Amino acid sequence: MTVEIKRVAVVGAGNMGHQISICCALAGLETSCIDVSPEQLQKAESFMKKYLPERVAKGKLSEESARQAEARLRFLDSLEEGVREADFVIEAVTEKLDLKKELFRRLDQLCPPHTILATNSSFFVSSLLAPETGRPALVCNMHFFNPALVMKCVEVVKGPHTAEETAKAAMDLALKMGKKPVLLHKEIYGFLVNRILRRIMDEALFLLDTGVASAEDIDSAVVNALGHPMGPFTLMDLTGIDLSYHIAMERYRETGDPADKPSPAVVEKYVRGEWGRKKGRGFYNYG
Ligand SMILES: NC(=O)c1ccc[n+]([C@@H]2O[C@H](COP(=O)([O-])OP(=O)(O)OC[C@H]3O[C@@H](n4cnc5c(N)ncnc54)[C@H](O)[C@@H]3O)[C@@H](O)[C@H]2O)c1
Repeated sequence: MTVEIKRVAVVGAGNMGHQISICCALAGLETSCIDVSPEQLQKAESFMKKYLPERVAKGKLSEESARQAEARLRFLDSLEEGVREADFVIEAVTEKLDLKKELFRRLDQLCPPHTILATNSSFFVSSLLAPETGRPALVCNMHFFNPALVMKCVEVVKGPHTAEETAKAAMDLALKMGKKPVLLHKEIYGFLVNRILRRIMDEALFLLDTGVASAEDIDSAVVNALGHPMGPFTLMDLTGIDLSYHIAMERYRETGDPADKPSPAVVEKYVRGEWGRKKGRGFYNYG
């Protein structure tokens, strides 16, 4: 049965959740943005109150649309109240599997029977969460990119349990939000974008580690020949070299394959505490 999606609940008002909520409200959906942290809710609401008038001032949004979006968006600390009437839930809580499992169990109890439950997790496929519910056919991944208000791509991932109608509803919802969704017909670690990005990062690090070219020249080639907005080393400095180190270590722990260990350049930067922009120095110096 296909239900028209009118009410959305976003659980988690952090980096991702607060912006996904605003995207939903701007798309004309009645939206609840839910978090356990009052400070996070406060921050999310303050951001919305600043963001919408800025868009109006820049001529990107009419005053009326901004007013309506604000009226459609509620910030709540009660999961029960926030999801009671939701047609679609987007889970965007902290990336911890046990936390997400517990939340999916509660969502299954609190939501109406037709509600679709989607996870914005970067790495956990929805088949890890679907068995916690009595509605596996209504569970899928819906992976947004950071910052969610700006980035157009959304990966919708269909698990073996996911009904066609569920994946279609997630794709349609993303389209309604003005996104450019892509559908993954099966689950795979890292989904699509992060897998491609990993190949690029690994190759860039190989070229640096083997002395073929400098970080600056590799970045320059990727920007000027491939048309990427920034090179892999600039990107690693932005996302954090500590993150690159931990992701590679986690991969190595899982596979035991020495090829999966962090590259020498990443280890060196990690040990020196040169983790990128946040430390003032990474592959580049930020003075
Ligand atoms: N940050 C990114 O670049 C990015 C990109 C794509 C996907 N993601 C995924 O999005 C999810 C959220 O990431 P984030 O960066 O927004 O994290 P975040 O730490 O900024 O926010 C997580 C929020 O979840 C809240 N929370 C924790 N338990 C909760 C519960 N039981 N009920 C309600 N709220 C709860 C926290 O208070 C916090 O505000 C993760 O699964 C992450 O993998 C992150």
